[in-house]
Amino acid sequence: MLNSLWNTFRGTRVGRSIFRVGLPHSNLERAQVAISSFFLHFQPAKVNRRSLKFRTTLGLGLISLYLFLILVATGVLLMFYYVPATDYAYQNMKDLEFVVTAGQVLRNMHRWAAHLMVLFVGLHMCRAFYTAAYKPPREFNWVVGVVLFLMTLGLSFTGYLLPWDQLAYWAITVGTSIAGYAPLIGQKLKFLFLGGHVVGESALIRFYVLHVIVLPLAAVMLIAVHLWRVRKDGGLARPDEVRTLQEDMPQVPVTKTYGLMELARGSTSAVGIKPEDEVFTWPNVVFREVLLFMATIAVVLVLAIFWNAPLEQIANPVHPPNPAKAPWYFLGLQELVAYSAFWGGVVVPGVLVTALIALPYIDRQRRGVGVWFSGERKVALTIFTVCLTIAVVLTVIGTAFRGPNWSFQLPWKPVHVEEGSH
Ligand code: HEM
Repeated sequence: MLNSLWNTFRGTRVGRSIFRVGLPHSNLERAQVAISSFFLHFQPAKVNRRSLKFRTTLGLGLISLYLFLILVATGVLLMFYYVPATDYAYQNMKDLEFVVTAGQVLRNMHRWAAHLMVLFVGLHMCRAFYTAAYKPPREFNWVVGVVLFLMTLGLSFTGYLLPWDQLAYWAITVGTSIAGYAPLIGQKLKFLFLGGHVVGESALIRFYVLHVIVLPLAAVMLIAVHLWRVRKDGGLARPDEVRTLQEDMPQVPVTKTYGLMELARGSTSAVGIKPEDEVFTWPNVVFREVLLFMATIAVVLVLAIFWNAPLEQIANPVHPPNPAKAPWYFLGLQELVAYSAFWGGVVVPGVLVTALIALPYIDRQRRGVGVWFSGERKVALTIFTVCLTIAVVLTVIGTAFRGPNWSFQLPWKPVHVEEGSH
């Protein structure tokens, strides 16, 4: 039934103008369908069998991408109901809850997808590190990734303020005060973002513009570059690529572009890759991608149905909660800032970001590429794991073990949040 509908549509003038190639039946058509489609040609017509294995990537990059798409879709819908003004923003949240059909689920989906995206982009970065995927020729794509990670944090942080409740207001107040600790430019930067010295009307409109226009557009462009580079850097990192590229065929660039006929014959052996190691993107990769997309939507939907996004009292600039906490992904930083504003708020994050960007240019040995936790990279693995563990421990302490006046508190003891005592 579906097949005949599709065939009828494809046979029409309109159908042929949109879909240049029909459902493929031969290898030539399988190659054509990937090459001639805007969305599919981000991937090569053929991929190495290894990239299909779940353990190669754990699907983390794709899940990050799908979460971003879910965020764009739900975000556009939310924009219909949201006015970025302090007089309306909070009421809009209430309307979503009580007036708009499925408004609460929509808001919940956006919220959970945002939290999950921060988490999954972070996990994807760890997977790229632990499989040494940042080594040549993928150094630049790693750097693009680091910028994407920072952008993901920026997207989530700017969105945090929009509900204009106590949680939003004070999380952003705390978060932006951390930025203010940077020497010389800190206060100026803070003023630029807030449009004043405190979070208010000007901050709300600035955050809104950053959240719905500037950062999403920049992220779309950068994600496109990122995915394009995955393809042009020779697909996903593989242990045997070192042998293929360096020893077998040192003169062949990584980014050999296969001819259509070459692909149709199933021959890519020109770069030392055995034809039986490769499969067509259509349907092998596309099928898995669609499946993972549906699974991601399903998980976000289930979370959204069962757990509501928080909404506290309307923002009150004279009644800070005690403790006032930044969003969870900055709580490790807030914990450090509690010890030393300068070291915790400026030096440590500055050094970490610089080290992440510089990593592929420092650690250039091609050892362990495409191998999880390769024993040949003991030093790099140890340093990264220690930093990661500290970051996680600090975040957990900041999230669960800090009470009023940032005093140490056990999470299983009754929580006592003081209002207005600052
Ligand atoms: C919006 C955020 C991001 C999206 C949507 C994204 C998406 C992807 C996708 C779909 C892939 C293909 C393979 C896979 O699924 O793992 C990939 C590969 C890659 N990503 Fe990302 N990524 C993001 C952020 C990052 C970050 C933060 C880093 C590291 C700092 C990074 C570094 C890499 C590297 C090095 C590869 C190549 C992996 C390989 O060859 O095995 N990406 N990315």
